[in-house]
Amino acid sequence: MSRLPVAAARPAPTTALPAVLQADQLPVHVAVIMDGNGRWARQRGLPRVMGHRQGVEALKRTLRLCSDWGIGALTAYAFSTENWSRPGEEVSFLMTLFEQVLARELEALQKEQVRIRFLGDLAPLPAKLQALITEATERSAVNSGIHFNVCTNYGSRQELVQAARALAAQVQRGELDPEAIDENALAAQLHTAGQPDPDLLIRTSGEQRLSNFLLWQLAYAELHVTDVLWPDFDATALTQALVDFQGRQRRFGGVQEEI
Ligand code: FPP
Repeated sequence: MSRLPVAAARPAPTTALPAVLQADQLPVHVAVIMDGNGRWARQRGLPRVMGHRQGVEALKRTLRLCSDWGIGALTAYAFSTENWSRPGEEVSFLMTLFEQVLARELEALQKEQVRIRFLGDLAPLPAKLQALITEATERSAVNSGIHFNVCTNYGSRQELVQAARALAAQVQRGELDPEAIDENALAAQLHTAGQPDPDLLIRTSGEQRLSNFLLWQLAYAELHVTDVLWPDFDATALTQALVDFQGRQRRFGGVQEEI
């Protein structure tokens, strides 16, 4: 049985769309691999971490654009399970940056009705960051605006292993018949449970890899790779990605367009 995408509501745009975009053909859920912060900084003779600071600005810009243009969900890859292997100072800088941004932006997120969630293994994160994550998640849970997923200490293979373990434990307890395990049962154990799969994946800075990001959820996503470095990602770059998406014929393994 093929797994059809979960239907999701497409909110109406709140600001005028660029003329080249059509509201009813926009993706419902956009995922981004925000790559190129280090290169952006190096090109300017700056320390790598300055690229991450500008990366935060690009993420805020992208979230606001998606929200204004009626995209229902944005999922961003902020820190992978592999990113711990970066130099200690860069990891510490990123953790502190996440804390500062969350503390600083929480009121704005509330005002803009953003529902924020953090996907990944959050237990190894610093205690202060975990507390801010809990507060932001709880306070924004009933918000009616865009769903914003921040993948933090996220690794897709780890997520799938965790899901397999959870299902195995249910079988062991006699709560689940192995024959009843289907795609929906597995999807229900992922961090993204209950959310529609991304329709569009954008990766910046030219690399053509998935880097252990949403391997299950991106099964039918359209891919858009741009040479733009993440800190430079702006309305023009997002529009290009959305125009590219609009031009794709989505067949989900069939022979004719299904959406
Ligand atoms: C990849 O660029 C970027 C990251 C690993 C970090 C991304 C994090 C942010 C933009 C901050 C997000 C903040 C919040 C609060 C969610 P890279 O360092 O791999 O760049 P390079 O490939 O050019 O070296």
